[in-house]
Amino acid sequence: MLKRLLIPTRIRLDYLRHNTITAEAKATVASPPPAAPHVPVLCDKAIEYLKEAPGRTFFDMTFGAGGHTRRLLEALPDAKVYALDRDPVAHQLAQELSETAEYKGRIIPLLGKFSDIPRLFGEQSLAKNSIAGILFDFGCSSMQFDEAERGFSISHDGPLDMRMDGGRSGGLTAADVVAKAEEGDLVKILRIYGEEKAAKKIARAIVDARNGMIKIETTRQLANIVEDALASGPRKDKLQRPAHSATKAFQALRIFVNNELNEINYAMLLANEMLRLDGRLVTITFHSLEDTIVKRHIAGNVTAGAANLMPLKYSSHGLIDDPQMLQSLSETNWRQLHRHVIVPDPAEVARNSRSRSAKLRAAVKISAPPEIHEKSTE
Ligand SMILES: C[S@@+](CC[C@H](N)C(=O)[O-])C[C@H]1O[C@@H](n2cnc3c(N)ncnc32)[C@H](O)[C@@H]1O
Repeated sequence: MLKRLLIPTRIRLDYLRHNTITAEAKATVASPPPAAPHVPVLCDKAIEYLKEAPGRTFFDMTFGAGGHTRRLLEALPDAKVYALDRDPVAHQLAQELSETAEYKGRIIPLLGKFSDIPRLFGEQSLAKNSIAGILFDFGCSSMQFDEAERGFSISHDGPLDMRMDGGRSGGLTAADVVAKAEEGDLVKILRIYGEEKAAKKIARAIVDARNGMIKIETTRQLANIVEDALASGPRKDKLQRPAHSATKAFQALRIFVNNELNEINYAMLLANEMLRLDGRLVTITFHSLEDTIVKRHIAGNVTAGAANLMPLKYSSHGLIDDPQMLQSLSETNWRQLHRHVIVPDPAEVARNSRSRSAKLRAAVKISAPPEIHEKSTE
């Protein structure tokens, strides 16, 4: 049914190839339930936009602890939400909720990643162009970040894992990547996915540790290696907040291990196929790599199914002073529903520090998706 959604490999947005790393799958058991619940970010705004959807069938593509789903179902008592997550812990929560009297028949739990949607659509006998609203709240949940065993945390020591699906479908752990990636690949991973300026220094320190027969198997070990390599005192992030010197390295590994940017790019194409006309899309992103992909899709700056790396007007010198040509090239079937990107107000940031870098975009599907054009080689 959604066959066309399966994008051929040649046009998948592969930011980086995994070629030089031997894939060693280590299936692990899902982590125990979290200590602290996840607080949903920008919830009021997300629901405000989703409520205007032209129907009552929704997809929460990132169920997590279900904060957004529950608020949506409170706001629309006749709505039904397909609740997707790749994390078995989140899926278990969705299943438990779906069995309560309040949510029976209103939450349909789905286990898998965005790129499993074509299969899941078939299994659920869903047709494309049928969904009224879709929510993406990208990144990790507090349940993942705060649970040492999941291996995402700089501050809680645990095995260096970082797989959002807990190893359900095998895949490399972050420890596998630091143990096996060639130095040049580590530099690229850190630079591209972490926007880490000191990528070379950190990659060297990791390789030195390897050469010294040190196995980097825990989050603390990696954090210490990065800290020692940089030895440049406390860092600040883009918003001038104090940040651990390994924050960017951890982000880079997490994105790589979970193939997050490819998943997001593909998810934007899927959303376009899943939504009915006038359907609502809401995305919440937590760093510029995520937001740029969403923004480019909404603006129509997509070639061969992949968000372009730079704004269209800089892609060719002729376009800078040719607004008409620029407009014709950026054909899009999305209309963003607000002018400026939406961020949390200071009260929300004070209540929930994890919301501080969040950005929300809401868009409506105004026509059928444009055909995917092949990338020009000229
Ligand atoms: C920020 S949390 C969502 C929190 C949720 N909105 C709530 O209010 O509790 C993001 C969730 O998305 C899931 N996720 C991230 N990437 C995914 C993907 N490609 N496919 C499916 N789930 C994904 C993660 O496992 C995580 O549980």
